[in-house]
Amino acid sequence: MAETLHLSANATKGQRFTEIIPQIESVVVAETDLIANLANVAAILREAFGHFWIGFYLRKGNDLVLGPFQGPLACTRIPVEPKPRGVCGDAAAQQKTIIVPDVDAYPGHIACSSISKSEIVVPLVVDQRTELVLDVDSAELSTFDEEDAQGYEAVIRIIQKHHFAS
Ligand code: SME
Repeated sequence: MAETLHLSANATKGQRFTEIIPQIESVVVAETDLIANLANVAAILREAFGHFWIGFYLRKGNDLVLGPFQGPLACTRIPVEPKPRGVCGDAAAQQKTIIVPDVDAYPGHIACSSISKSEIVVPLVVDQRTELVLDVDSAELSTFDEEDAQGYEAVIRIIQKHHFAS
């Protein structure tokens, strides 16, 4: 596996996703352990985009439980059932990507840190069950758009293909 991430200078967001997706794929195919791969994917995304917090919550029973991440201390457990909480809980329950331009305006947002201003959460769904979510938090308002949704969804598809393929 390549142990150095290659990032070109002054890349646009789209170019950045285009260059990291194959590098994420080669990291993930080289290892069978899910947690090891999620840890490296979090590190790659952090290095590529520098957002405030980036990480995974894994489905355990009715909750999402904190998994590998990069960034400050975070909430450990987020309910999905019977009543979802926060952006992560909602994305897991609704099984769709949620982009939040202003977290303070989102009903039920879980503020793990007051520094976080906007957020995107992408679920990984297998057989109608959300197995994990990818959560990215920014210190700026309105950071994430459809390009981020497509990029992070491509990252989730790589993890799905190698760890959750039926
Ligand atoms: N803000 C998230 C909780 C997780 S942290 O931000 C790391 C939410 O509302 O689900």
